[in-house]
Amino acid sequence: MIQMAVLGFGTVGSGVVELIDRNQDVIRKTVPEGIYVKYILDLRDFPGNPYEERVTHDYNKILEDGEISVVCETMGGKKPAYEFTKAALERGISVCTSNKELVAAHGPELLRIAAANNCSYLFEASVGGGIPLIRPINSCLTQENITAVFGILNGTTNYILTRMEKAGLGFADALREAQEKGYAERNPEADVEGHDPCRKIAILSSIICGKTVRYEDIPCEGISRITPADFGYARAMNMAIKLLGTSRRNADGSMSVRTAPFLVREDHPLHSVQDVFNGVFVHGNMVDDLMFYGRGAGKFPTASAVVSDVMECAKNLGRTIRFLWDEELMTLSDPAGESYRHFIRIDNAEAGKARELFGQTAEISCEGAPEGETAFVTPLMTEKEFTAAADSLDSIRQNVRLLHD
Ligand code: HSE
Repeated sequence: MIQMAVLGFGTVGSGVVELIDRNQDVIRKTVPEGIYVKYILDLRDFPGNPYEERVTHDYNKILEDGEISVVCETMGGKKPAYEFTKAALERGISVCTSNKELVAAHGPELLRIAAANNCSYLFEASVGGGIPLIRPINSCLTQENITAVFGILNGTTNYILTRMEKAGLGFADALREAQEKGYAERNPEADVEGHDPCRKIAILSSIICGKTVRYEDIPCEGISRITPADFGYARAMNMAIKLLGTSRRNADGSMSVRTAPFLVREDHPLHSVQDVFNGVFVHGNMVDDLMFYGRGAGKFPTASAVVSDVMECAKNLGRTIRFLWDEELMTLSDPAGESYRHFIRIDNAEAGKARELFGQTAEISCEGAPEGETAFVTPLMTEKEFTAAADSLDSIRQNVRLLHD
């Protein structure tokens, strides 16, 4: 038996424990000795829970047990997950995690410690929930020069945007619904302000370029400023509004990385990615476009990704599954130099001045448009040009970038 421990018995951790029990027969086809969860570390007790006997509050018991070869870190946050992960890896215990915050902040350091101790640090569940994404990039696409990765990387905000689009809900009502369904946290800031997908695009960018893209260096916007009126115009343009993480490699070797809401055309596959689903495009110079699609959040989809990592570790005991992810910082391009077209809503009084600043633009009308405003899409312009023009206007009510072709 491969003996393991789960750190954090929340949504994902409990999913891991249940999945290992329910799918033990399937697991044994690949890992014949089977996988057994010996310990569950949590601050809480779980009286009446079928796994209550395995709950411990003492991490040292797990580290000093001697039989534990894999730990699943499903606690989230940096503290104490960082110290716990390091302590396990330093003892040669592999760690599998869903904790994107920790991976984005300390990924290359933890990979280095794992390699020095002949064990692995795996993080499939940290990006895209249940979608196999990290392993395909790290094992099936290593022959590719991956030039872009972009997509919908946050299930909660995609659910909120879908409800705003389909049911005409305002942001606050859609958020409340997402919270009631257990998608959004009580404090939803990391999702709705884009920090969560920003960390995920930082991780993806890092593993495709082999250096570190710091999420703190990525321009990041969320969806809390998106209104039902924006969806009216989006519909009129046959587009949908999606929160995207985008990352492209430039000819000069730098990368352009961003997290923001984008208008996505109807004929783009990301347009139809709805609810809590994620959709991620990876572009390789030989394979061309690949799209990965699936549930980006939720107990069992995320647990499935964690357990897939546990099985990889079980098949590679005493060895390190390597990633090309160095601690050296990747050079990011100046975001002001990127070019986009922008959808704009502005008070009628300034529409003439806006047309002069942005160039000739066709007006967009839609049913139920708010009174007193004009909407249009700018020509392609650099962010620097856009900001200079926008700064000389006082009444821009909204602006959303359009996803490039
Ligand atoms: N809050 C995240 C999301 C969970 O909604 O996508 C999965 O990373």
